[in-house]
Amino acid sequence: MSKKAIISLDGQNFDLPIIEGSVGPDVIDISKLYAQSGKFTLDPGFTSTASCQSSITYIDGDKGECYYRGYPMDVLAEKSSFLEIVHLLWTGSLPTKAEWYEYSEAIKTHTMVHEQMKTFFNGFRRGSHPMAILTSVVAALSAFYPDSIDVNDLEQRQISARRMIAKVPTLAAMAYKYSIGQPFIYPDNNLDYCENFMQMTFGVPTEKYKVNKVFSKALDKIFILHADHEQNASTSTVRLAASSGVNPFASISAGFTSLWGPLHGGANEAALNMLKEIGDVKNIPEYVKRAKDKNDPFKLMGFGHRVYKNYDPRAKVMQKTCHDVLEELGRKDDKILQVAIELEKIALQDDYFVEKKLYPNIDFYSGITLSAMGFPATMFTPLFAVARTAGWIAHWKEMYLDPQNRIGRPRQLYIGEKPRQFLELKDRD
Ligand code: ACO
Repeated sequence: MSKKAIISLDGQNFDLPIIEGSVGPDVIDISKLYAQSGKFTLDPGFTSTASCQSSITYIDGDKGECYYRGYPMDVLAEKSSFLEIVHLLWTGSLPTKAEWYEYSEAIKTHTMVHEQMKTFFNGFRRGSHPMAILTSVVAALSAFYPDSIDVNDLEQRQISARRMIAKVPTLAAMAYKYSIGQPFIYPDNNLDYCENFMQMTFGVPTEKYKVNKVFSKALDKIFILHADHEQNASTSTVRLAASSGVNPFASISAGFTSLWGPLHGGANEAALNMLKEIGDVKNIPEYVKRAKDKNDPFKLMGFGHRVYKNYDPRAKVMQKTCHDVLEELGRKDDKILQVAIELEKIALQDDYFVEKKLYPNIDFYSGITLSAMGFPATMFTPLFAVARTAGWIAHWKEMYLDPQNRIGRPRQLYIGEKPRQFLELKDRD
């Protein structure tokens, strides 16, 4: 017998079907509740609401586990490469050797952007934040590649998705180069995905850029860790924007916009700034005290997560990657790293953090790592966005293939004025 929940309203019972997922909590299907009862449900911040069905990523927040298409994310980070993960998220399967060759060649050979995009960059003020530029130029891809914006055409969907995976790193590197006044560096198809991104970011035309393999491998891992995270704010934004049928480039640029916020993708920048502000291990107790004070807006950045009520599995891999990078640089005694290690230790033993189940999240160590690799803080969120483009396109595709897909249109509890009489200006004293 199929399971159901019963809701009782004003003496009347309404049966609500319970739908089982393959793993994780079941859901109560309330989609017919309004039609049957005239009542909405209220859930600000979607803490108890599943907005869709998905088979891409599964998070067990209590255990601190994350799976992409059923594979443990930490194993993938250790043993595979970012482009394999993009393929996995998009198709549902890890690529065979032949598929891998076809896919990586296709991505490699589409990394250049329309030459006229350079002119578009020139419209921005020098010194603009790279995310300010990216939110616009990603949307502008729809102006430069109008041949792949028909969302109802399967082939065009595939082409636009590949274009984004191939070109977003080029745009991110261009946004950075523009912001610091250096010439754009063209992609180099002899390099792999992350090596190429590093040479476009750090290279200059006057000398050959030498890729540090420890760093490019670390970046690849960082991209894998950030590739998807089910229905987070930016992914939900992409889905909601796309539900109107808007073109893929515009939908993904909405994801960039949402990701930019300090409570989401901007947290790595905020976490590094916080660690620098703390500056010394001896100052930690004062900041921990502030984080616990309800009257102080200060929060421990890189701590806490809506879903993880245990150690964020991405943070564990990130912590190790951070150590690898600092070891490569001969900076095992880095002062900021020492502050981070000690802060983590103190917070994990503090009753406030223990009771609220606040653990380090992925952003806690990512800022230190990226900074040590030479990326300025303004590039942290663009890097996150490059990686998350993989998840966004996968969710975007899944949404189109879902027969239940409709335009997203949340309802509200209206608490404003009741209907009232309009008075013309001449009658208002
Ligand atoms: N420092 C101090 N207290 C915290 C922190 C923190 N980092 N995070 C949560 N809390 C407290 C809250 O004040 C709240 O306390 P209360 O119950 O006494 O009111 C309680 O813990 C629950 O926190 P909420 O803010 O309600 O949790 P929510 O799920 O809404 O927010 C979030 C999650 C936004 C990640 C929050 O923990 C936070 O702001 N963390 C710092 C920013 C950060 O690191 N963001 C990155 C998230 S990961 C990512 O986007 C890739």
